[in-house]
Amino acid sequence: MTASEQVEQGRRVEPRPSTKPPGSAPRGFGKTLRVDRWIIKPAAIAIGLLLFIVYATGSSVFGIPYFGVDYVAEGYHSPFFGIDLGGALRLPAWFSAAILVLWIQVLFRGTCYYFRGAYYKAFFLDPPACAVGEPSIHRRFAMENKFPFILMNAHRYALYLAFIPLLVLWWDLVTAVWHHGDPRLGVGVFLIAADAVLVSLYVFSCHSFRHLVGGGTDCFSCSASSQRRHGIWQRVSNWNQYHGVFAWASLFSIIIVDVYVRALALDIINTSTPIIGGFL
Ligand code: FES
Repeated sequence: MTASEQVEQGRRVEPRPSTKPPGSAPRGFGKTLRVDRWIIKPAAIAIGLLLFIVYATGSSVFGIPYFGVDYVAEGYHSPFFGIDLGGALRLPAWFSAAILVLWIQVLFRGTCYYFRGAYYKAFFLDPPACAVGEPSIHRRFAMENKFPFILMNAHRYALYLAFIPLLVLWWDLVTAVWHHGDPRLGVGVFLIAADAVLVSLYVFSCHSFRHLVGGGTDCFSCSASSQRRHGIWQRVSNWNQYHGVFAWASLFSIIIVDVYVRALALDIINTSTPIIGGFL
């Protein structure tokens, strides 16, 4: 359990060491007693995260200003934008409106306990995998005990901000269903609904949210309200076991919706497209 998790659970935290404790893995980069192919998981995570970062940056930041690909089509919005911010704010042509909302996602996902564990291993080799020796240079750093990584402890505040784009996402689903004054059920509605559910599961399975609903109390059985709170906390704890799954599933669903909207905007998918052409 990390220091920030201990704080959130109301436990007393020991003074922070100035450098990382040595740990119990055999000393020496890559040294391990593990006999499985431990490198596969961090390598797959590194590739997956890099692909997402490259795609998300290209699509959301450069998609409109530099490639002229609209993020609204057939009443659907790319999840990188959610609503038509650019039109409302009259932003300069070179500035992507996505930047106004994306920083919240970057802050929230970048400080997520699951993603930290994943990208510390994949990108910083800190350590490369559980019970595998890390580069000796890490012994000189205190990581999350000092600036800048100590800022990761602000994750709970990023959670509060993350409710804003989540609300926008559900509103986006409403506007997708209610199109030109009539309800519709199309492929886009299905994809945005799946994305809204997966992103919600990701947010509500967050470790900080688990503390928000169940932390700071000494007694779950003392009153009817605290018993109800215990029930919610148990539900969130169950979701929390699959937080990593929801983290990745929601990344994929965001990309799938974005690809779909851009394909509509570029007329790659239209009413003549076989099978789905009548249910856009
Ligand atoms: Fe992953 Fe909070 S721990 S979003």
